[in-house]
Amino acid sequence: MTALVGSDQVQIVLIAVAWSGGAGVVGLGIAYLLRRRSVPVLSATVALVAVGAVIAGIIGTARAMFLSSHDFRVTLMVAAIAGVVAVLVATLVGRVLSRWSRQLADETRRFGASGEFVASGSSAPVELRQLAAELERTSERLAQSRARERRLEEARRELVAWVSHDLRTPLAGLRAMTEALEDGIAPEPERYHRQIRAEVDRMTRMVDDLFELSRIHSGTLELSPQSLLLGDLVSEAIAGADPVARVRGVRLGGRVEEGIEVHADAQGLSRVLSNLVMNAIRHTPSDGTVEIVGRQVAGAVELSVTDACGGIPDADRERVFDVAWRGVDARTPAAPGEADDRTSGAGLGLAIVKGIVEAHSGQVSVENLDAPPAGCRFLVRLPAPA
Ligand SMILES: Nc1ncnc2c1ncn2[C@@H]1O[C@H](COP(=O)(O)OP(=O)(O)OP(=O)(O)O)[C@@H](O)[C@H]1O
Ligand SMILES: [Mg+2]
Repeated sequence: MTALVGSDQVQIVLIAVAWSGGAGVVGLGIAYLLRRRSVPVLSATVALVAVGAVIAGIIGTARAMFLSSHDFRVTLMVAAIAGVVAVLVATLVGRVLSRWSRQLADETRRFGASGEFVASGSSAPVELRQLAAELERTSERLAQSRARERRLEEARRELVAWVSHDLRTPLAGLRAMTEALEDGIAPEPERYHRQIRAEVDRMTRMVDDLFELSRIHSGTLELSPQSLLLGDLVSEAIAGADPVARVRGVRLGGRVEEGIEVHADAQGLSRVLSNLVMNAIRHTPSDGTVEIVGRQVAGAVELSVTDACGGIPDADRERVFDVAWRGVDARTPAAPGEADDRTSGAGLGLAIVKGIVEAHSGQVSVENLDAPPAGCRFLVRLPAPA
């Protein structure tokens, strides 16, 4: 008896698999043909195929005489009614899904127009919510990059305005001096010649700095890193800046631990040091001290230039590395020979330092020193050679 029931069951399963499977394959074909239609049509199709597979199975088993004609009619009717209900529910769910997806499309369209994505479908299915979250993250990244671009554009505009001012002023002076020389009314022609020469040198330096900066910013700065002894670099920087330090009565010294090597571009690193040292000398009162220290720390080589500038105000400290920023309001260059040449820079030196250091994957920072004599320390950290 059990064996008989068992074989009946096997037959029923086989018949149902064949008939329902056939209906499923036909349903798959229909779904494929309808794949470009809306979500409600697709979900109704899936419900129809499911009910169709049930009905096909019932027909198959009835044909094999497993169902009486009465039972067959009853189950068929029940399946047909269940089918109608299933299609209704599937259409409804499909419509809700398609409303969520339309909502997401509207939000994405607004995102395209305003650049800001605001998701509202918090009850949408997880895939749509993930998509909305991804769009939100993209919108944040876009906002950040737009802000960065705006800052860069502003800096570029300021640079052009300041540089043209910095060039126009000495050019006006040069013109006045050459006219005076031409008309023979210059009281001291030699002094005028010296001034003209000094102005031309200053402007040449500024144009060189601008060229260097543009190479740094366009990424075309060519570095030839090699192993360098830090001690040699510091000695060279001291030798180069010593005459200026003497004239200003500033003591200039250096201290480097024995044998420290750094993998860097020799010319670039010399420029970093000389810009820092010249700044330090310029901002240190006579009889003050400027000191360069080189040392090895965990995974890095540190170079610091300490001066007695009296400290840089907090708000200014954040800006010293900006292109064309300088700490004095007046951007009028001092005439050569005038006592205070603090205003004679173009504000490019530290931007170049930062550009070169970062091109070496290093960092540069500045801090104030409270211990007397109050001053500041510029610190360059470069990765230690592997
Ligand atoms: N060692 C320092 N001590 C105090 N202030 C400094 C020091 N170095 C730089 N600064 C401030 O930072 C500003 C920017 O320095 P930066 O070297 O970029 O330009 P600059 O020296 O004015 O001109 P440039 O270097 O182009 O000739 C300076 O104008 C100064 O106000
Ligand atoms: Mg400078």
